[in-house]
Amino acid sequence: MGNETTESIRARVREMYERHPYPPVDEDIQAYKNGEAWLLESPNPSFHLYWPARAYTDDLDILIAGCGTQQAAQVAAGLPGARIVGTDISEHSLSETRRLAGKAGIGNITLSQLPIERTDELERDFDLVICTGVLHHLADPDAGLKALKSVLRSNGSMHLMLYGRHGRTGVYMLQDLFRRIGIDAAKAGKKDIAALRALIEDLPAAHPFAAVRDMHPDWHDDEGLVDLLLHVQDRAYTLSDIAAFLGGAGLKIQKLLFAARTDPMFTPLNDIAGSGFSKLPELEQRTAVELYRASVKKHVFIACHETRPEKDFETSTAQKHWAETVPVISYGLEVERPSAARKTFRITWPFHNEPGIAVETTENGMRLLEAFDGNRTIADAVHAAGFKKNDKALLKQLEGFLERCARADFLTFRKRLTSSD
Ligand SMILES: C[S@@+](CC[C@H](N)C(=O)[O-])C[C@H]1O[C@@H](n2cnc3c(N)ncnc32)[C@H](O)[C@@H]1O
Repeated sequence: MGNETTESIRARVREMYERHPYPPVDEDIQAYKNGEAWLLESPNPSFHLYWPARAYTDDLDILIAGCGTQQAAQVAAGLPGARIVGTDISEHSLSETRRLAGKAGIGNITLSQLPIERTDELERDFDLVICTGVLHHLADPDAGLKALKSVLRSNGSMHLMLYGRHGRTGVYMLQDLFRRIGIDAAKAGKKDIAALRALIEDLPAAHPFAAVRDMHPDWHDDEGLVDLLLHVQDRAYTLSDIAAFLGGAGLKIQKLLFAARTDPMFTPLNDIAGSGFSKLPELEQRTAVELYRASVKKHVFIACHETRPEKDFETSTAQKHWAETVPVISYGLEVERPSAARKTFRITWPFHNEPGIAVETTENGMRLLEAFDGNRTIADAVHAAGFKKNDKALLKQLEGFLERCARADFLTFRKRLTSSD
């Protein structure tokens, strides 16, 4: 395949998705309209991650590039005031999106069969560009990213998901195996896919895919298995690769999501005597953590123009400013109460699915968390919870707890808005 052109690779990818549209459709589009379901990438609920200093609005232009079967309809359903454009190369996927939108009477969506590489043909620009699970399937991801950047407004954000390299080691071994034995997405039928599923269920315990099988639920359904294990074109990235990829297009990381998975705080790497780990730049440390964890199979992050000023999106963790920010508690935190075996409260977030990422706290920490109501700043919550401002030792302790919560992704922040915002 060394001499294949961009066009012929794209044609093979399109053929694959026409035969096996992805993801399998969730018919309950009404739940997105009623606000009972949402996608993380949608400004409803993630507006503050893109624009932490702006008041919420759905008066937005949003491009969903490589939208697949449902993403554009789901985002449009939750943002009636936004103008959504969905593009994809697969007509089958677009027709599924069109059907879902029609079913829920969603009118704020325009769909176009257009490769990402030709996004400029839309002749529009956008506040937000969402592109999840697509760029790594392009013959030339750099060209795709540059095309997306060309339609991003100067204060806009991009929500991207790219495959993580080390968490997919087993995936690439299986892709190689299936290629060698002549099973490919263009020919595989239901029977072949069922046979592959049986093989996966019974993999030798030492196989790298067996170790992470539960973190890749896609192989349970046919379309998911093809997307994961029979893909005709995909590549994967470390965080260092991503920084270089973005830099090449004049973009930078605005915010890493699910960042705890690559945060050294939740690993023993800083404790290795004599290592140069602590002197590495932050992104290199995180890239080293990827090698330690071995399970980071996706990188989810927000990117923006290199020229967008940090003050536009940075919610500083320097406590002086931090006390003036409004914490947003991540949906679905799980709290274990103290027990005979453990004196502390223990908080985890099921989205991480990583055993090492938990934050221990005391009654005081819980009291502070309970005082966060989505509007109060940290300083206001300290006051509302009845803590005394002059109890310096306690405030220091709470500060450390909040930092661990933020780094564990349990909390994100937005700036306090004034009446002029
Ligand atoms: C894994 S699916 C992801 C769908 C959707 N973004 C989501 O997260 O649910 C990848 C989608 O990208 C589309 N795609 C692949 N290459 C593309 C390209 N060059 N331009 C536009 N869409 C492309 C495929 O047709 C498919 O619908």
